[in-house]
Amino acid sequence: MHSLTVAEADGDERAVEAALRPRTLDEVVGQQRVRAQLGLVLEAARRRERAPDHVLLSGPPGLGKTTLAMIIAAEMTAPLRLTSGPAITHAGDLAAILSGMNEGDVLFVDEIHRMSRPAEEMLYLAMEDFRVDVVIGKGPGATAIPLEIPPFTLVGATTRAGLLPGPLRDRFGFTGHLEFYEPDELELIVRRSAGLLGVELTDDGASEIASRSRGTPRIANRLLRRVRDYAQVRADGVVTLDVAGKALDLYEVDESGLDRLDRAVLDVLCRRFGGGPVGISTLAVGVGEERETVEEVAEPFLVRQGLLARTPRGRVATPAAWLHLGLEVPSSQEPTLFED
Ligand SMILES: Nc1ncnc2c1ncn2[C@@H]1O[C@H](COP(=O)(O)OP(=O)(O)OP(=O)(O)O)[C@@H](O)[C@H]1O
Ligand SMILES: [Mg+2]
Repeated sequence: MHSLTVAEADGDERAVEAALRPRTLDEVVGQQRVRAQLGLVLEAARRRERAPDHVLLSGPPGLGKTTLAMIIAAEMTAPLRLTSGPAITHAGDLAAILSGMNEGDVLFVDEIHRMSRPAEEMLYLAMEDFRVDVVIGKGPGATAIPLEIPPFTLVGATTRAGLLPGPLRDRFGFTGHLEFYEPDELELIVRRSAGLLGVELTDDGASEIASRSRGTPRIANRLLRRVRDYAQVRADGVVTLDVAGKALDLYEVDESGLDRLDRAVLDVLCRRFGGGPVGISTLAVGVGEERETVEEVAEPFLVRQGLLARTPRGRVATPAAWLHLGLEVPSSQEPTLFED
């Protein structure tokens, strides 16, 4: 089974997610800043009766980039065309999409950092001048025919804004950076989703799911679905604090949202290596996983939670890590920890 605490969506999940997406900016929970900024961009465009500036949405998986892209089109009552960086392998693919655009259409390019270089260059021109050069023929006899495209709005989404070439990034009129959600925001999202799914849930049940969701709405919605299963099979269908706690314990998602692998990493680091510093490869062998898995799947969240630190000499457990495992913080750990 797909791990419950992975932030990316798996195949089946996309269909369920579609039903839970907020449809308007007002329905979006949290992200106050991006929401206010984007609201202004859209309102101004509506008043001018023009397509809004191109928008870049960046941030970790599962925080609402695709949701916001769809909302932009809905708020502008404009048709949305969807594509993604990996789907555009040749500039010609992009030319075909762009030449079919109508005035005011919204073009959503997901994972825009994964587009090919020639397509990227075509996109700069299209964003700035609403023009593409369609190349006819091959070799020395090839000619570029400029083709006008009606003003449209590009919405790009990326989990890796740093990988976007500067010239592309600069052509977006507005960049919204999505942040992890606060527990009270996730609680609202869980309650809203429960309403849509017809799940009966108490306030403390919602708050329990929220606090184990790693700041990520996608994970909150996924945990809610698993807790609902438990409530229906092992209880009377109502998601209470007790039911949520027992269900998530069963799925090995602990009170802070750590899963089995996260805890294994901390456990090996503290119990076997005295809290570190220890090299990542050694740590990975200790938990019986690939180095990449530990580095890319477990570590980012442990670092974000302040449980693990990456130092030049290796990985180090913070005092919070010892406490999380229910261990006493060794006195030698405390003072030297953040020296570098
Ligand atoms: N602000 C929000 N309020 C309510 N639900 C949200 C919010 N943001 C995201 N969600 C929910 O979380 C799920 C994932 O959101 P979305 O698909 O927009 O994430 P994403 O940033 O596009 O992720 P990825 O990087 O994997 O494409 C959606 O089903 C949506 O219902
Ligand atoms: Mg998305």
